[in-house]
Amino acid sequence: MILQGADIVLGVTGGIAAYKAVDLCSKLVQAGAGVDVVMTDAATHFVTPLPFQTISKRPVSVDQFRLLRDMDMAHIELSKKADVLVIAPATANTIAKLANGVADNLLSSTALACTAPLVLAPAMDADMWAHPAVQRNVAVLVERGAWVVGPGEGRLASGRMGRGRLVDTSQILGAIRQALGSRGALAGRSVVVTAGGTQEPLDPVRYLGNRSSGKMGYALAEAARDAGARVVLVSAPTALETPFGVELRPVQTAAEMAATVLSALEQADVLLMAAAVADYRPAEVSLQKIKKGSGDLALSLARTTDILAAVAERRAQPDARPGVVVGFAAETEHVLANARDKLVRKRLDLIVANDVSASDSGFAVDTNRATLIDQETEENLPLMSKADLAARIIQRVASLFEVRR
Ligand code: PMT
Repeated sequence: MILQGADIVLGVTGGIAAYKAVDLCSKLVQAGAGVDVVMTDAATHFVTPLPFQTISKRPVSVDQFRLLRDMDMAHIELSKKADVLVIAPATANTIAKLANGVADNLLSSTALACTAPLVLAPAMDADMWAHPAVQRNVAVLVERGAWVVGPGEGRLASGRMGRGRLVDTSQILGAIRQALGSRGALAGRSVVVTAGGTQEPLDPVRYLGNRSSGKMGYALAEAARDAGARVVLVSAPTALETPFGVELRPVQTAAEMAATVLSALEQADVLLMAAAVADYRPAEVSLQKIKKGSGDLALSLARTTDILAAVAERRAQPDARPGVVVGFAAETEHVLANARDKLVRKRLDLIVANDVSASDSGFAVDTNRATLIDQETEENLPLMSKADLAARIIQRVASLFEVRR
């Protein structure tokens, strides 16, 4: 994963949300990143350096004039080691300093000397956030390439409702991952990912669906974003949070997914088809709830559009988009033979064959066991997290572009 081995400098400034930065520090360390925490004096009034030091297992820097063993200047040392500088929470005061090049404490001096990507997670009162001075400062920083995540809407420290809350840790992690991967193997590429199980309405209260949770597709969307791609995620209903930096296009039925995918593909280089799309839908959708009768009920089903087959038809034209198409095969028997048949029939570049009969692989779980099959090779992968499998699939996609170059 992209955070493994990354050096993150985490700036914490003086807002009530400062305590939430402890969770961010912890999640970064759990993901394998090295974290150096820099706190402003104001931040230490809200949370002490101790939890950061305990979690990061590194000294926390607060005082600009502390003496370092190797006599380097602290702000230079920190700014040069950072792969990403993230400031969470970022107060209006610190945002103003960064926008104007003020360097009057260790954090603002580090930011000024740092050439690594900057991620800001603002948190403040709603009226402060809406103030033209803050909005102008944020716009200046965005113009210079900063990633700004949030603030979110909801209940603020004052008890009022509004925009100003620090966003959830998962969103800040997403922004850090996107910033880290911005020059990755798919930088400049556009990727369409499908996820979840389509729902085919029967009447106003019922539908035909399947057990797809969307986890595989969402992991792919994150992995593609982490490799620097612009990502459109065409998703059937799921309980999952939209990953930071990914454009969500929600759909319900196979027909809606087909129309949305085909239109998104006009701009795309890659299609990753992880969704479990219904092959059949009720031939008639009742306008009223179907009432229970005394006997059985027979349903008549009609075929849906095969999205990958429609894409294959388009790709028969020279130079048609997308350049790379990856399908999935969810199989319970003859897994490899059935997958190979789909690879050829749907004219795919790669197919991910997953045995969905095992309880730790396939639908709704966090792990998957897959074989990646292309025209020449078969790569048998062990059980792994869907995040790791997604990263492997993205590596294969990137190498397809490399080979064609
Ligand atoms: O969402 P999760 O809970 O994480 O589960 C992940 C998963 C098991 C759903 C995923 O790993 C997976 O295997 N997705 C494909 C499921 C599927 O529909 O497989 P299939 O063998 O029926 O279809 C083959 C390919 O054709 C798939 O890429 C599918 O998206 C595509 N298809 C299917 C039907 C259709 N009408 N149009 C299509 O394009």
